[in-house]
Amino acid sequence: MRVVVAVVAIGAPVYAVLLLGYGASPRTTDVGYAPPQPVSYSHALHAGTLGIDCRYCHGSVETAAHAAVPPTQTCMNCHATIRTESLKLLIVRESYLTTGTPIEWVRVHDLPDYVYFNHSAHVRRGVGCVSCHGRVDQMEVVYQAEPLSMGWCLDCHRAPEAHLRPTEQVTNMEYAAEDQPAEGKRLRALYNINPSTDCSTCHR
Ligand code: HEC
Ligand code: HEC
Ligand code: HEC
Ligand code: HEC
Ligand code: HEC
Repeated sequence: MRVVVAVVAIGAPVYAVLLLGYGASPRTTDVGYAPPQPVSYSHALHAGTLGIDCRYCHGSVETAAHAAVPPTQTCMNCHATIRTESLKLLIVRESYLTTGTPIEWVRVHDLPDYVYFNHSAHVRRGVGCVSCHGRVDQMEVVYQAEPLSMGWCLDCHRAPEAHLRPTEQVTNMEYAAEDQPAEGKRLRALYNINPSTDCSTCHR
């Protein structure tokens, strides 16, 4: 369990109250940013071809602000028996069997600390992963698909209908309503959705 705790601690945000230091904000508008990862883990293979649900590895998206990256144990659920000799999995086996230290995945999406974001507030209200992360199930290496700028957040908060889907479809990358404008309107009323545009919603 220590591995899980370490991963969560590293991902833990610092909710700065003041809007200071935005000059030092990280690459938030770098659409296409795709840092190399220590293990050539492929979402296209695991989430696409093999069809593993996003929540198998990012289980906290529905309950927490952050969508934790999985501990090595999650990989070993399968790789203790699948491809046990593969060199591409050497770092994974070492992390689990020898060193016990988490794999040092490199963050792709990173809002400045003065912005408050919450996954569960979106995922449980029918906003799908694909609206903000693109077709992750087709990515060999994860890249940033959307700008993550303030204007981008506000565009959807002002008119969320185009992005609403039934909550049971949030991880389905291929979901498409027959008539999205009508369906978006229906779901907005049904779920009573009213995203706030007050500054304090995202800057607390
Ligand atoms: C078998 C485990 C697994 C599954 C299934 C999985 N992921 Fe991931 N995901 C990871 C790992 C490991 C990383 C960190 C390495 C990387 O970025 O590729 C990651 C990283 C990510 C990131 C980038 C995180 C960051 O640093 O900003 C996003 C976004 C993401 N996953 C979304 C998804 C979505 C959407 C799905 C479902 C379509 C999904 N993942 C399915 C294991 C998984
Ligand atoms: C639900 C089962 C499952 C889980 C969980 C899983 N994998 Fe896999 N993984 C597979 C399968 C199946 C293959 C494909 C094996 C093949 O091609 O014969 C594979 C292939 C791979 C490969 C390519 C190996 C090679 O030699 O080509 C890598 C690297 C890999 N996985 C990394 C990971 C990592 C890292 C995690 C954890 C974040 C993970 N996997 C979690 C089932 C899984
Ligand atoms: C409304 C937009 C939005 C939706 C919907 C969304 N994400 Fe994210 N995701 C983000 C943003 C923004 C970040 C960067 C958060 C930060 O830096 O604090 C992020 C970061 C992540 C991360 C990195 C860890 C973290 O929490 O910072 C993972 C993994 C991830 N998302 C997976 C998912 C999965 C899986 C889904 C669907 C179940 C999903 N996201 C739905 C916007 C979204
Ligand atoms: C694709 C549409 C979409 C995008 C993009 C989006 N949001 Fe949201 N956001 C929503 C919806 C829908 C809700 C739920 C509103 C409700 O429950 O009435 C929400 C709710 C929230 C909440 C919860 C407010 C509360 O009451 O706790 C926060 C915080 C938030 N969004 C921040 C952000 C930030 C920061 C970004 C950009 C990084 C962002 N959102 C991008 C659609 C979006
Ligand atoms: C829905 C979420 C959301 C709301 C509401 C929001 N912001 Fe932001 N704000 C953001 C995000 C995300 C960033 C980071 C943009 C980046 O890094 O590119 C940001 C950045 C900023 C910055 C830093 C300068 C900049 O533009 O990069 C200031 C100042 C700011 N916001 C002020 C405000 C004020 C004032 C309000 C109310 C009128 C407000 N914000 C409402 C999400 C929001």
